[in-house]
Amino acid sequence: MHIRGPWQRAAAGAGLLAPDGSIASTIFAEMSALAVKTGAINLGQGFPDEDGPAEVLEAAARAIREGVNQYPPGIGTAQLRQAIAAHQRRFYGLEVDPDREVLVTAGATEALAASLLALVDEGDEVLTFEPFYDAYGALIALAGGRHVTVPLRAPDFRPDLDELRAAVTDRTRVILVNNPHNPTGAVFDREVLETIVELAERHDALILTDEVYEHLTFDRPHTPVATLPGASDRTITVSSGGKTFSTTGWKIGWLTARHELVTAVLAVKQFLTYVNGAPFQPAIAAGLALPDAFFADAAAALRDKRDLLSDGLRQAGFDVFESHGSYFVVADAAPLGYPDAVEFCRELPARAGVVAIPLSAFYREEHRGDARSLVRFAFCKRAAVLEAAAVQLAALGTTV
Ligand SMILES: Cc1ncc(COP(=O)(O)O)c(C=O)c1O
Repeated sequence: MHIRGPWQRAAAGAGLLAPDGSIASTIFAEMSALAVKTGAINLGQGFPDEDGPAEVLEAAARAIREGVNQYPPGIGTAQLRQAIAAHQRRFYGLEVDPDREVLVTAGATEALAASLLALVDEGDEVLTFEPFYDAYGALIALAGGRHVTVPLRAPDFRPDLDELRAAVTDRTRVILVNNPHNPTGAVFDREVLETIVELAERHDALILTDEVYEHLTFDRPHTPVATLPGASDRTITVSSGGKTFSTTGWKIGWLTARHELVTAVLAVKQFLTYVNGAPFQPAIAAGLALPDAFFADAAAALRDKRDLLSDGLRQAGFDVFESHGSYFVVADAAPLGYPDAVEFCRELPARAGVVAIPLSAFYREEHRGDARSLVRFAFCKRAAVLEAAAVQLAALGTTV
């Protein structure tokens, strides 16, 4: 039986509506299944294979033991909201009111979903860069928005500012930024961010900025959009404890914005999940209060892993585009004789015992050709795993 409904919009927005009207499985699912079937090293999905800080894990276990197991307040516990406000002040000099300008959500994903559902009317345009984190296409479509994209091209994945200017118009309701950027590892410079703010002001658009990798930059400090002149009133800043504390399964996220925006988003969030993760909220609060050294060490450790995998990929014969932040690096398989990354990724487990994701998974269907031979690798894995992957990949060059 054919089931009609808005799910079809979400599937189509993610480029997954099959010709027979069903939802096609994602390349992520296909690659994960291949990893299981072949026993290959999975550098496809972006989650760490090590636990985060012991203090954070222990705080969650303690909270469960001490009975923090019922519904927390709708906007999040006071302790976590205060920790988020203190974090914004400590790292960025941003003043946010923990009682009026912070909302705790079920991961960054719910913050993004609730914001788009709350603020995008049917036919409003939402602009993202392309490639984009795969949830964006589905969420924009579910909200009834029209997805407009501006390309990010190798080698630096920096947007062309004239293309950006041309894409933002009075029809643009939201500019959805992701910085540091998944899947490319780009960290946008100040001029790019200032142009976004200037365009949002000129066309009275909102800025929704997904900064889940804010602490995972390697050679340039993170600049939150909200710190730029003119930005704070029209910007919703989204982050999450998942990446910073290696607790992706806990799904504790949050947003900060001026009170009226928080109220609008809360009106939707309230009926999506109402609340989530009571015992994990004090644990993420403990994480946000860790000393500066924790955050610096986490970025430095991940930078070493980036270097380990990037060097391995280069030695195997890939062209590697330097990653400046996030869990990911993009490499070109063309020098290895592979013009098509999808085909390459399907063969990679058998040829090198490694799983990766073709970059085309992060493009709209009609733009997938732009991704050509590009592949995304995740380096948020133990050094020994990355070393083994590098050794196995090195064999590729000799077997073409
Ligand atoms: C850019 C980006 N935004 C959001 C998320 C999801 O965050 P959360 O697990 O907190 O919902 C991810 C996870 O991979 C991501 O890469």
